[in-house]
Amino acid sequence: MVNAADFIGRDVISIKDYTREEIDFILKFSSEMEPLVKTGSDMLKGKIMATLFFEPSTRTRLSFETAMYKLGGSVIGFSEPEISSVKKGESLADTIRVVEKYADIIVLRHPAEGAARFAAEYAKVPVINAGSGAEEHPTQAILDLYTILKEKKRIDGLTIALMGDLRYGRTAHSLAYALSLYNVRLFLVSPELLRMRREVLEDIKGRVEVSEHTNIEEVLPEVDVLYVTRIQKERFPDLSEYARVKGSYKIDLSMLRKAKSDLIILHPLPRVDEISVEVDSTPFAKYFQQVENGLVTRMALLSLILGAVKE
Ligand code: NCD
Repeated sequence: MVNAADFIGRDVISIKDYTREEIDFILKFSSEMEPLVKTGSDMLKGKIMATLFFEPSTRTRLSFETAMYKLGGSVIGFSEPEISSVKKGESLADTIRVVEKYADIIVLRHPAEGAARFAAEYAKVPVINAGSGAEEHPTQAILDLYTILKEKKRIDGLTIALMGDLRYGRTAHSLAYALSLYNVRLFLVSPELLRMRREVLEDIKGRVEVSEHTNIEEVLPEVDVLYVTRIQKERFPDLSEYARVKGSYKIDLSMLRKAKSDLIILHPLPRVDEISVEVDSTPFAKYFQQVENGLVTRMALLSLILGAVKE
């Protein structure tokens, strides 16, 4: 049986480091924390979280920081590494060894794959991976699952399409790993060039029924959850390759006429042009609810890892 004490001091580097039972515990605990979003709490009073963001972010950094403030804790960090000592050539290892002297927990976003794992090896305090290059974004997967569960009341039994940049999209990688712990059917929908990373596909295909497609319209009528991602332009080694896929898919109202009436559409955001804005006002659109769910799931994670939860 999983209990709150199992999370104390844990890193969150890959969603693969967590079992289904542990993820279910986090999801359940997140829903119990919902009232605290309004009322706040002093569960993390005296605790300090450092957010080290070497890449742009709106939601992830602000939601971690808001989560910490809601629980009575404090926040230090940077989101512009060019004005920190990184600019002077300080290594990630040294940055981590310094920051851990100030903070009880470190939230790191970095363009290099493996950066979060590397940081966790140096840090004596827990490290949360808020995005490691094109690799993974585990806390996004938790909030995505939480949104699915909240909207659909279950995860098992659903048919879920992950659509968009499955090659470079770290949120799609973490979510695919996480969903493979459930009894779901997965459609992976992308342009040929942006097919799901092979290592992810190899990992999940023994556990879930999964198929690859290039056109969403082929499968849309069967889908319960459509998870759309933007093309990760900044990850392309060659911009002429990006030019070949730019604007190659878009969800619009006419397409949704073939969808189930209770389909939900998720997106980690930011959106560029892959979901038409006219979809925003339909009951399908749940991407702004996801943002709200990011706050409560991060409150849950921080309080569990920092040992503030009494059984
Ligand atoms: C995502 C990311 O940074 O990977 N954003 C987020 O954290 N919600 C998705 C993206 O940038 O496309």
